[in-house]
Amino acid sequence: MVQPSLSRRGADAPASPIRRLAPFADAARARGVHVHQLNIGQPDIHTSSTMLAAYRSYSDDVVAYSPSQGTLALRTALAGYYGDNGLHGDLAPVTPDQVLVTVGGSEALLFTIAAACDPGDNILVAEPYYTNYRGFAHLLGCDVVPVPTYAAERFAVKAERVRERVNARTRAVVLPSPGNPTGAVLDRKGLADIGAVCVERGLFMVVDEVYREFVYRPDLVGSVSPSALSVPGLEDVAVVIDSVSKRYSACGARVGCLVTRNASFYAACLCFAQARLSPPTVDQFAAEAALKTPAAELRANIQAYQRRRDVVVAGLNAIDGVSCPTPEGAFYLVADLPVEDAEAFCRFLLDDFDLDGETLMLAPAEGFYATPGAGRSQVRVAYVLDIPALERCLAILEAGLAAYAQRA
Ligand SMILES: Cc1ncc(COP(=O)(O)O)c(C=O)c1O
Repeated sequence: MVQPSLSRRGADAPASPIRRLAPFADAARARGVHVHQLNIGQPDIHTSSTMLAAYRSYSDDVVAYSPSQGTLALRTALAGYYGDNGLHGDLAPVTPDQVLVTVGGSEALLFTIAAACDPGDNILVAEPYYTNYRGFAHLLGCDVVPVPTYAAERFAVKAERVRERVNARTRAVVLPSPGNPTGAVLDRKGLADIGAVCVERGLFMVVDEVYREFVYRPDLVGSVSPSALSVPGLEDVAVVIDSVSKRYSACGARVGCLVTRNASFYAACLCFAQARLSPPTVDQFAAEAALKTPAAELRANIQAYQRRRDVVVAGLNAIDGVSCPTPEGAFYLVADLPVEDAEAFCRFLLDDFDLDGETLMLAPAEGFYATPGAGRSQVRVAYVLDIPALERCLAILEAGLAAYAQRA
């Protein structure tokens, strides 16, 4: 018998740094320790009420395939939502045939990178980056080229640094705004400046706007983050990634989309979509209802995240040696810890530490960087728990750092 061997890309596939510590958390739980999870972006807030009602009312006798690009009803509803939120700015509103429904924002990213890049090409990503950008690039035989951002600059992405990193194999810039893991939000000028680099160098500008509503800057509260779809001159290069996962607290629905005015880019993505036949039918029905979530319900959720952010940022900065800038959006932040190796500290919290039977799971930030050694003393915190739990987490972190310092 000849043993089949894995492909190079299979053997080299990067494990998710967010989930790598899961077995150690399981072991802590098996010892009876309660593990507070601040490591992944799974919101605890209830799924949209209108979406849940739609799931409960679904009554078709056959769960059939839908069109590969998604149902017209959902694409029309999404285009309506973009129009209502003024995503197009002074440009023409988005139309349903510019919206391609996908299996979460994740599949929209996969299709987008596949339509922009050939094997050996690269995408520019702001570092620290959302790790699945690297995962999808790897799957497609492409590379990520990091554009550095710094805590001292609140992780702002600077157009001149983007320009410096473009090389002959660069095909796209892929940025989340509001950002995961940093919470940084690109303002209109930032989008236009990076867009100008894309136009100048012939790159697609992919802006991942899945956290669009999660904005806390006073001038944006109650509104949405500026969209790449509103920037004049980017009509042919802008691709926006969207999802119901975060906005409606519906990560398991697996409905997202990509939006582009570039018809040939859309056509290529539609061919990929045809190969996987259909996005989920029942979930599209529910997603359509999610777009009717009462504004007050959405607003209350965003306000809850803002209060959580305020508690976590103040609490972290009050701990000796810990610092983080105040994120302007999403529900993540990157914090510097007074440790050399944050991954070893995160392991310590799970393996060797508890405060009255409770401990904490954080995401070591090194895996969010491609630059060797960068982010070693940082962690990503997802503030997806209620305030009493977050306060407890801060107390556990402070006690854990003290115990770790004594041990070292
Ligand atoms: C920045 C960003 N983009 C895309 C996604 C993908 O989300 P989904 O596939 O659930 O829509 C996530 C999920 O955490 C994310 O943080």
